[in-house]
Amino acid sequence: MSPTSVALIGAAGHGAWHLRAIDALGERVRLVATCDVQPGFDYTDHRVMLAERKPEVVVVCTPPHTHLPIALDVLDAGADLLLEKPPVLSLADHRRLAEAARGRVLQVGFQALGSPTLPLLAERVGEVVSASVAGAWWRPDSYWARSSWSGRRGRDGALVNPFAHALMQALAITGIRPPWTIGLDRYRTRASVEVEDTATLRLSVPDGRSVFVAVTLCSGDFVPGDITVAGRDGTAEVGYTQDRLGGQVVPGRIGLLSNLLDHRDHDAPLLVPLERTEPFTALAEAILAGDPPALLDPARLVRREDGVEIPGAAALVRRAAAERAHFHEIGAFQ
Ligand SMILES: NC(=O)c1ccc[n+]([C@@H]2O[C@H](COP(=O)([O-])OP(=O)(O)OC[C@H]3O[C@@H](n4cnc5c(N)ncnc54)[C@H](O)[C@@H]3O)[C@@H](O)[C@H]2O)c1
Repeated sequence: MSPTSVALIGAAGHGAWHLRAIDALGERVRLVATCDVQPGFDYTDHRVMLAERKPEVVVVCTPPHTHLPIALDVLDAGADLLLEKPPVLSLADHRRLAEAARGRVLQVGFQALGSPTLPLLAERVGEVVSASVAGAWWRPDSYWARSSWSGRRGRDGALVNPFAHALMQALAITGIRPPWTIGLDRYRTRASVEVEDTATLRLSVPDGRSVFVAVTLCSGDFVPGDITVAGRDGTAEVGYTQDRLGGQVVPGRIGLLSNLLDHRDHDAPLLVPLERTEPFTALAEAILAGDPPALLDPARLVRREDGVEIPGAAALVRRAAAERAHFHEIGAFQ
């Protein structure tokens, strides 16, 4: 079989990761163009690139608010698409994209949905009732200054961007979709950043299933992203970043570009079709429409040379996730 021609739009940021993933596919693919509005790549205008190079598959790794117009151009040019997460930021855009993608292959870059832990969960816990996520990471001041959309209201935030995989994973594990009840408790540590760096989220649907998420980007101690899954027959701990189930790392994660090619070539089931991510888009839209998060009193924070730490953040996040309680419900930040 001749190699599939692939192009990358948005090559300078996280796109470098995709270049390595494309490279790792060896002779199965042929990289025909890289494109970025920054200099140093084959093209600065994706429309020119699409017209001249006619790639069969395009990876789009540009800022989230640019995804829709670029994705529409890619689909219009007749290419299949691996679109980074979050695919779009509103349900209206989601539906527009779904309409345009009819007859084409569109995979969304929620790579943790390629985890081999997911199919094993049902036999461990039975019918899933709830998923509760704890994540405590550290991001320096420079993280919030790296791009024009970083930290901007309506475009970014700990829940919809760095912890997007945690949310998507919990949605996929529980299978819950709107209509749902959403509770949010969001905080920020920097006046210059308009979005949350620390938050809890509770989602519940009428049949009793629920998702709880407690995360921060201001932790000195690292909690990678642990999901406690409760089912009718038991519970299981899943580490979604490392494909850990209980105490064991499960090998065999399926790469999303490789899966997209398998779908094109052999009709393998697509792991992350756009429709699978619609609950995430609904959730992202609701979170992004929220009021600006509360600004934490600097007296509660430890100022480090490169950023801000919330003392005891990892323990706090673990407690909130274990009790499925918002930060304000356990007396934090009052
Ligand atoms: N799947 C993951 O784990 C993961 C990790 C990080 C980022 N992401 C996603 O990847 C995407 C990019 O994130 P990032 O952190 O690299 O953002 P970024 O802003 O640092 O970089 C995006 C790149 O796109 C380029 N760009 C912007 N507009 C463009 C256009 N019209 N045409 C061509 N290039 C353009 C920018 O110059 C930049 O090089 C986002 O959707 C983000 O959520 C996913």
